[in-house]
Amino acid sequence: MYGEYTGHDYFHVIRVLENARKIYISENTKKDLNWEVIELSCLLHDIADHKFFKGTEEESKQVLIKIMNKIKVQSDTVEKVMHIVNNMSFKGGKNEKIELSHEGKVVRDADRLDALGAVGIARAFATGSYLKRPIYNPENKIPKKFKNLEEVKKAYGIYEANTINHFYEKLLLLKDLMLTKTGKKLALKRHKYMEGFLKEFLQEVK
Ligand code: ADP
Ligand code: NI
Repeated sequence: MYGEYTGHDYFHVIRVLENARKIYISENTKKDLNWEVIELSCLLHDIADHKFFKGTEEESKQVLIKIMNKIKVQSDTVEKVMHIVNNMSFKGGKNEKIELSHEGKVVRDADRLDALGAVGIARAFATGSYLKRPIYNPENKIPKKFKNLEEVKKAYGIYEANTINHFYEKLLLLKDLMLTKTGKKLALKRHKYMEGFLKEFLQEVK
């Protein structure tokens, strides 16, 4: 994952792992969480992502299975990790209905936290640049606050994407999609920081 500059690099993985550790520590009161599953899922979650991996979906699954076999991960753990890694991504909201294991919820929240707050702002502009999108285009209307993705889609006619709008399309929706109590709490703090940033940004470009 070296040489990746949109915020999906090795250091993203380590941040996700640390977010997951925080959530795990405060959510594991019933001692039902399997740390090995969480740790492996965090470390592997972006390796076979369609954004970076150019092979087929089946080939991408094989890459992860090969890594886990090499380090002798038990087969039931491999299965649990694969279910998480294959179903945790945002994918335009498509995966929202797939029920994740408790470990999966921790990992998904941990990954989403890295899309929020100061780090989330930095990653959004890095990714926006990679996608050749302008930071902000005043001719594109700023979307109103949306309740869900359906509303986002309905509200847009023809429009050129810009990164400021990405906050309204996705990043500001994430706090309500967190699946763990701790994740929600951490997300709320980061959400407020992003709202402050957007307010200041729009004030400056007025
Ligand atoms: P997931 O982590 O669920 O796979 P993505 O890969 O789409 O979701 O998002 C990961 C990161 O990339 C986030 O920080 C997100 O803000 C950023 N990102 C994704 N799409 C865009 C976009 N169109 N503009 C700016 N940032 C984006
Ligand atoms: Ni990720």
